[in-house]
Amino acid sequence: MLVCGLWGNQLSRARVGVLLSGRGSNFLALAEACRRGEVPAEIVLVISNRPEAPGLGKAQELGIPAVAIPSKGLPREEHEGLLLAALRKAQVDWVCLAGYMRLLSPSFVAAFPNRILNIHPALLPAFPGLDAQKQAWEYGVKVSGCTVHLVDAGCDSGPIVVQRVVAVRDDDTAETLAARILEQEHIAYPQALRLLLTRPWRIEGRRVVFALGA
Ligand code: GRF
Repeated sequence: MLVCGLWGNQLSRARVGVLLSGRGSNFLALAEACRRGEVPAEIVLVISNRPEAPGLGKAQELGIPAVAIPSKGLPREEHEGLLLAALRKAQVDWVCLAGYMRLLSPSFVAAFPNRILNIHPALLPAFPGLDAQKQAWEYGVKVSGCTVHLVDAGCDSGPIVVQRVVAVRDDDTAETLAARILEQEHIAYPQALRLLLTRPWRIEGRRVVFALGA
């Protein structure tokens, strides 16, 4: 597979839709980086599948359009159809998953080929899935971290864009480790989106390769 991207020469900023299910701190980190001009993008829509997600209120405080599209009780295709309609109406170019607690179907992923990003709180491919920080701490690893990756049809399995490493301390608990990983997530997510939007890149096999010297 060879896929290329070059957004840096675009006159307009990329239009980003964020999907979340909870507190929304990674969404906030992205929004702040966009506002500071560090990432040439604009978050044009935030969607939560959980109406009670604190991230929705944070988006509203920033004046970013935010809607709940509840997934509870809906078949997956129907829920994703509603998501896609909202994202298309907002003319979204990129989708950033920020603590979105549902797997996306292959047809949803195919609607934004190599334009969906996710952040995971471990160094993939180690510890995919839920409670990654606790999995890593219980396993006894000496380093963990976070991964920003393009989303494919698998679970936490797409090509890696950025990883940041966090040393595990002997006196860590799963919670203290998670807190230090979260600090790095807030750096890694804007960093990854900025790279993808400003540097020529391609996918070789599973590898996201950025052009040298660009
Ligand atoms: C983060 O740890 C992220 O890596 C994971 O879900 C959590 C979301 O946190 N996918 P927040 O809602 O962005 O604060």
